[in-house]
Amino acid sequence: MVIRSFWRAASSLLVLFFLLRWSAVGAQKPGATSWQTLSGDAPVVIANGGFSGLFPGSSSDAFSFALIAGSTDTILWCDVRQTKDSLGVCLQNLKLDNCTDIQSIYPQGQKEYIVNGALTQGWFSVDYTMKDLLKVSLTQGIYSRTDRFDFSMYPILSVEQVQKQNNGSLLWLNVQNDIFYRQHNLSMRSYILSVSKRVLVNYISSPEVDFLRSIVAIFQKSKTKLVFRFLGKDITEPSTNQTYGTLLKNLTFIKTFATGILVPKHYIWPVTSDLYLESQATSIVSDAHKEGLEIYAGDFVNDIVIPYNYSYDPLAEYISFIDNGEFSVDGFLTDFPGTPSEAIGCFSHVNKSSLDHGKPVILSHNGASGDYPDCTDLAYNKAIKDGADIIDCPVQVTQDGVLICMSSINLMDDTNVAQSIFRSRISNIPELQSTPGIFTFNFTLEEIQKNLKPSISNPDVTFGIVRNPRHKTAGNFLTLSDFLSFAKDKALSGILINIENAAFLIEKVGISVIDGVLSALNDTGYNKQSALEVTIQSSDSSVLVKMRQQTKYKLMYRIDESIRDAAASSITDIKKFADSVAVDKESIYPDTHFFIINETNVINSLQNAGLQVFVYVLRNEFASQPLDFFSDPYVQINSYVQGASVDGIITDYPASARAYKRNSCRNLGNNMPNYMQPVQVGGLKQLLVAPAQPPVLSPMPILEDSDVVEPPLPSVSPVNPSTPTPPNQGNASAPATQHSNSSILSPVSSMIISVLVIIGSLLFF
Ligand SMILES: *[C@@H]1O[C@H](CO)[C@@H](O)[C@H](O)[C@H]1NC(C)=O
Ligand SMILES: *[C@@H]1O[C@H](CO)[C@@H](O)[C@H](O)[C@H]1NC(C)=O
Ligand SMILES: *[C@@H]1O[C@H](CO)[C@@H](O)[C@H](O)[C@H]1NC(C)=O
Ligand SMILES: *[C@@H]1O[C@H](CO)[C@@H](O)[C@H](O)[C@H]1NC(C)=O
Ligand SMILES: *[C@@H]1O[C@H](CO)[C@@H](O)[C@H](O)[C@H]1NC(C)=O
Ligand SMILES: *[C@@H]1O[C@H](CO)[C@@H](O)[C@H](O)[C@H]1NC(C)=O
Ligand SMILES: *[C@@H]1O[C@H](CO)[C@@H](O)[C@H](O)[C@H]1NC(C)=O
Ligand SMILES: *[C@@H]1O[C@H](CO)[C@@H](O)[C@H](O)[C@H]1NC(C)=O
Ligand SMILES: *[C@@H]1O[C@H](CO)[C@@H](O)[C@H](O)[C@H]1NC(C)=O
Ligand SMILES: *[C@@H]1O[C@H](CO)[C@@H](O)[C@H](O)[C@H]1NC(C)=O
Ligand SMILES: *[C@@H]1O[C@H](CO)[C@@H](O)[C@H](O)[C@H]1NC(C)=O
Ligand SMILES: *[C@@H]1O[C@H](CO)[C@@H](O)[C@H](O)[C@H]1NC(C)=O
Repeated sequence: MVIRSFWRAASSLLVLFFLLRWSAVGAQKPGATSWQTLSGDAPVVIANGGFSGLFPGSSSDAFSFALIAGSTDTILWCDVRQTKDSLGVCLQNLKLDNCTDIQSIYPQGQKEYIVNGALTQGWFSVDYTMKDLLKVSLTQGIYSRTDRFDFSMYPILSVEQVQKQNNGSLLWLNVQNDIFYRQHNLSMRSYILSVSKRVLVNYISSPEVDFLRSIVAIFQKSKTKLVFRFLGKDITEPSTNQTYGTLLKNLTFIKTFATGILVPKHYIWPVTSDLYLESQATSIVSDAHKEGLEIYAGDFVNDIVIPYNYSYDPLAEYISFIDNGEFSVDGFLTDFPGTPSEAIGCFSHVNKSSLDHGKPVILSHNGASGDYPDCTDLAYNKAIKDGADIIDCPVQVTQDGVLICMSSINLMDDTNVAQSIFRSRISNIPELQSTPGIFTFNFTLEEIQKNLKPSISNPDVTFGIVRNPRHKTAGNFLTLSDFLSFAKDKALSGILINIENAAFLIEKVGISVIDGVLSALNDTGYNKQSALEVTIQSSDSSVLVKMRQQTKYKLMYRIDESIRDAAASSITDIKKFADSVAVDKESIYPDTHFFIINETNVINSLQNAGLQVFVYVLRNEFASQPLDFFSDPYVQINSYVQGASVDGIITDYPASARAYKRNSCRNLGNNMPNYMQPVQVGGLKQLLVAPAQPPVLSPMPILEDSDVVEPPLPSVSPVNPSTPTPPNQGNASAPATQHSNSSILSPVSSMIISVLVIIGSLLFF
């Protein structure tokens, strides 16, 4: 017990530490914009057991953190359960074994009771007095979430304690199973009436009609709002024996005992079985408003797969319920109260056409690759529509010497080649990768464009997370020339061309990608214009050194390992050939086991030397982010932009980065609401008690001179009989850019290639 209270004390102190850093300033009230809510006021945020997405639900830290990381107006939701001695405690689940460690404290306590007609096994609060429950601690009931906060041994809180600890905050009591308590000779009605005399209860909800009808007269004259909670449409409401679907048809009836309704979010935006939104919302919000009922939407969670229409952006989901031009719900019930606070306070009613190209610069990563297969026409179109400042083409070379935009030299990474008749072209090239691959330079452009289908990237597939399944093979690949022509008249600030494996391609394939890129830029007129800035990116300094000698294009060095700092001499070198540097996320905020542990000095070191710093690759998927970002892509972006001061972000999801740039709280200075301030780096890890601390990370290396310097690129060697390159070194080795007119290869060399291709196909099929 002594140890336990020490941990509790330590943990509360740290929450205070968070508070000091975070909320020196009170919440800013959402502007005077008019909302399509029933009252015309901004929608409210209701924190389900506090910030239960992170901490064990209904724990002291969950409740106080909801007010720190969300709007200070956040309403604290308590699922009231009654103890044997008629007290009310906040517990996320009727079954204590789902949300506490009771199984190990009272191993013999399992019971079997009828709950809403169903025989249910578990541990129930009706069997324990408040005193019994003092020994029990709250735990995280959702197993996919971290259990490290369970070690903090949070006590079960009574309703009064929640109110007292969060003095002045709004309180919502949900009475989920009134009938069950009555069966155990307990009266929720009496409890609610007595507690509401002692603490200010702002909302009372229940999915049971009779319960609300039993208290409606008493609360008629008070400010307390009564809310009827709808469950699944097929579930039977126990006091009327009608399904919730049937009850929904008569909101006039609901209005006789409630001032509002709480519905699962799919009641409003229906979802197909393959997890896409239907094309239209239902009319339930306006129906409820017509009836004079407020309507709250529930089931909001950041760390699950939401309908693909939202591109893994939970904030976009909230926006679709409050800022769609048609209606606004009156509030959200959520496990992650920070995100709806941002949506309401900073991301609604913004100018959706503003398109400034200032900092942070939004650089796409393989186009909008979160939504469509990498580097396809669809991905680039979407990136532009979504507001990228710069779109990117990673160039690869085909057998016929054409430069093409593809995210990988290995077709297995971004096409269906492994399932195609070409799968036999697999080869082992240790210089490129340790495993066998099927490489672009063994395919003609036509083979790629006609016979292979793009395949969407799924970086989080190990977590069961896939991208936009309906469009997973959609789109066409572009040649570099197509890409350059396409980008020319678009509202971009620039384009970026990434060049990798240049030395290998010269030596083994006989092709100079640098020459090919430069002539493609010339051919499309990029050398004679200033509207679009051209950036060449490489992780190979020799490419950039050569580019610097030959061109005036902007140069970006990509550091392809995680580092904790860069030696001064390495920075001096980088300065010789680069204007900007791309560093990975971990080099800025290293993390271990999903907890950020520190902020490195990398950005400072590079920026002090006059280099711009871009961070790669930001992704919306919650599984790609440390817990410090609360499964919220905007907290992540904000941390890198405001916290780490990056100059640009490289992202699979330009739409979210653009929404970030448009948010109305960016320039509020000291009035910035707490939920839009960057997270305190490593703060979450500090909240963990000792036994829950993740293992210490061995320090990442420092970037040294030797990591940066590369031997100069070889010159293009005379053609090797097995390679499809023409003999004329100085000129023809530059790959074609006008591929639609075959190439700049001489007719003779084209013929040689065709013969090779024919021989190749005879050999392999
Ligand atoms: C606990 O309850 C929640 C909500 O009903 C459910 O999603 C979760 O799977 C349950 N967890 C366990 C371990 O039963
Ligand atoms: C807490 O609540 C009491 C009673 O409502 C009030 O007098 C007091 O000022 C509050 N304290 C804070 C810090 O809000
Ligand atoms: C509730 O009270 C009734 C009457 O006093 C009694 O018969 C019944 O056993 C009690 N039920 C429980 C679950 O205690
Ligand atoms: C609902 O159904 C149950 C069993 O089917 C029955 O006992 C109960 O009286 C019914 N209640 C109402 C209000 O019809
Ligand atoms: C809806 O409920 C109201 C109020 O209880 C009632 O007067 C009306 O008859 C009901 N309408 C239908 C179609 O059941
Ligand atoms: C969601 O996406 C699907 C598939 O692209 C589309 O059919 C549907 O209309 C979209 N729904 C909304 C509300 O945009
Ligand atoms: C929105 O932004 C666009 C582009 O910057 C601008 O032309 C337009 O006037 C803005 N609209 C409003 C209402 O501010
Ligand atoms: C591209 O054009 C520039 C002149 O603008 C010229 O100096 C350069 O040699 C050209 N490069 C290629 C590869 O055609
Ligand atoms: C955190 O980073 C700083 C440099 O920014 C470094 O001096 C310090 O040792 C690091 N701390 C840990 C625990 O890694
Ligand atoms: C792929 O191309 C390289 C270089 O031109 C060549 O050496 C190799 O034999 C080719 N491999 C296949 C499988 O075609
Ligand atoms: C390269 O070939 C192009 C077109 O085939 C020609 O215009 C150009 O003069 C050649 N350059 C050299 C250096 O041979
Ligand atoms: C490509 O060839 C077609 C005719 O085959 C011609 O119309 C077109 O202008 C050529 N394009 C270029 C860029 O040379």
